[in-house]
Parts: sequence; C-alpha cells; structure tokens
Amino acid sequence: MDGSAKRSAAELYESCAFDQLLGESLRPGGLELTARVADIAGVAQNSTVLDIACGKGTTVVFLAGEYGCKVVGIDLSDKMIDLCWLKIRGSDQVAVLRGDAEDLPFRAGSFDVVISECSFSLLPDKERAARGIERVLKRGGKLVMTDIILRGEVSQELRGQITFACCLAGAWRAKEYIGLLERVGFRSSYLEDHSTELTQVAYQIGMAFGSIDNFVGWLPQGPCRRKGEGTARTSTESYQEFVRAARPGYALLAVTKP
Ligand SMILES: C[S@@+](CC[C@H](N)C(=O)[O-])C[C@H]1O[C@@H](n2cnc3c(N)ncnc32)[C@H](O)[C@@H]1O
Repeated sequence: MDGSAKRSAAELYESCAFDQLLGESLRPGGLELTARVADIAGVAQNSTVLDIACGKGTTVVFLAGEYGCKVVGIDLSDKMIDLCWLKIRGSDQVAVLRGDAEDLPFRAGSFDVVISECSFSLLPDKERAARGIERVLKRGGKLVMTDIILRGEVSQELRGQITFACCLAGAWRAKEYIGLLERVGFRSSYLEDHSTELTQVAYQIGMAFGSIDNFVGWLPQGPCRRKGEGTARTSTESYQEFVRAARPGYALLAVTKP
C-alpha cells in the first residue's frame, strides 16, 4: 500500500458515517472493552502506555483518568490529533502526536504497555509495525490488541476487490497474528473472543442506516472495485461475498516481550 492508500485508511475514520455510528470510540466494545484491555495488560499508576492509532483520544483520556498512568497516543490523522488536543489540553499525564504506527518515533524500551484498538488490521505492513512495537516495549512489557479477526478463508482475488481500507479488508486470522507476533519475538499469547461486540455494531449499523450495504455506500471510498466487464456481479455482491467467506469476528489478543 502506498502513502495515499495509507492516508485513505485514516480518512475513512474521519467520515461522518463513523461519527454517527460509533461516537467517541471508533470501534466495537467501547470503553468497557478498553477496561478489559487495561486489566489484561496490567496497567497501573506507574505504567507508561502507548496507544497506537489512538483516534479521538477517548482511550488515552480514560486510561490516564482511571489508572493514573502516563499515556502517549499516536494517529496518522491530523483531524483525530486535533480532537485529542481539545480533550487533553493542560494534562501532564497524556501526550499525543501525529505519526505512523508503522514507524514509531520513540526510543527502544520506552513503554510498559502498547495498546492497539481496531487499528492493527488497518496497517499494510504488519510485520514492520510488530517489530516497531516490540522495539519500543520494555522487557516484560505487553502488547494488547483488540481487532477484527477472520474466521473463514478469503482468496487474494476477493480481498483485492475491497477498495476501502477498513479494518475488515485488512484483517487476518487469529493464528496469523499470533504467528507474526511470535516471529518478531513476543511470547505467551493469550486470546479472548469478543465477537458479540462486533455483532452489536452490525446491529447498530442496521438500525442507523437500514443495512450494512447502505452504510458502506456512505463511506468516501465506496465498497468494492467492480469485477471485470462481462461479469454479472455488482460491487455490493463482492462485498457480501467477502463477508460471507471471511466470517469476521472480534478478539482481544495479548502477547509479552520476554
Ligand atoms: C478504527 S479507528 C480506531 C481508533 C481508536 N483506536 C479507537 O479505539 O477509537 C482507526 C484509527 O487508525 C488511524 N490510522 C490508520 N492508519 C494509521 C497508521 N498507519 N498509523 C497511525 N494511525 C493510523 C485512523 O486515523 C483512525 O483514527
């Protein structure tokens, strides 16, 4: 994925459709799931936490308030970072910066915990991101992510037809995430199913937009690339086929840097 495609991954979540649907946390589970993430990560008052792709800053403010820890948020979107600044102004516990989660601008061993909520799936070079996270964590530090996972098989051809850079299009199977994270040095993986929270978002989409197809139609990049001339299938049908094959779920995955 080139820089402009990465940029559109950020722009997608700036769209009013996501605002209307999800409000402050741009993903399933809300702050209840963030509290679970923090508990699994062992966040405490003396922790230093990094939230990659921090969105509107809801999690960084929540963690600083609930746990008294220091938190740094990074996001690719100027708009998200501006929204964060409005929330954290004057705080000596929270800092945010605009930057790429694949290219973390921090010294090695800076953080006790790295959190990634519904953002790892968006990153085109997941190995680069995983190596960066491992580098900035202290020994014994934890990465805890919550994200879409695929529970079915999707062909590369079908994946290539989804043109908008959403979490769903970039998601992997849980065992692929664990394999990557172990390859870059993490150990002690722990997996928890949170697919109910994803179902809840699908229900909210249905209530707010009439159908998932309507919602996807609202998004700036449109749902899918049309298949070649001469095929009867529409772009929406490609999207539906992707969802049917992928059987998306939602999971919490935690790993430790030994
Ligand atoms: C689904 S939203 C999740 C936001 C936040 N973690 C939350 O829980 O509300 C994805 C976020 O990833 C950001 N993003 C996308 N690609 C990024 C990248 N390469 N580096 C940093 N942030 C990125 C977007 O701007 C957006 O704020």
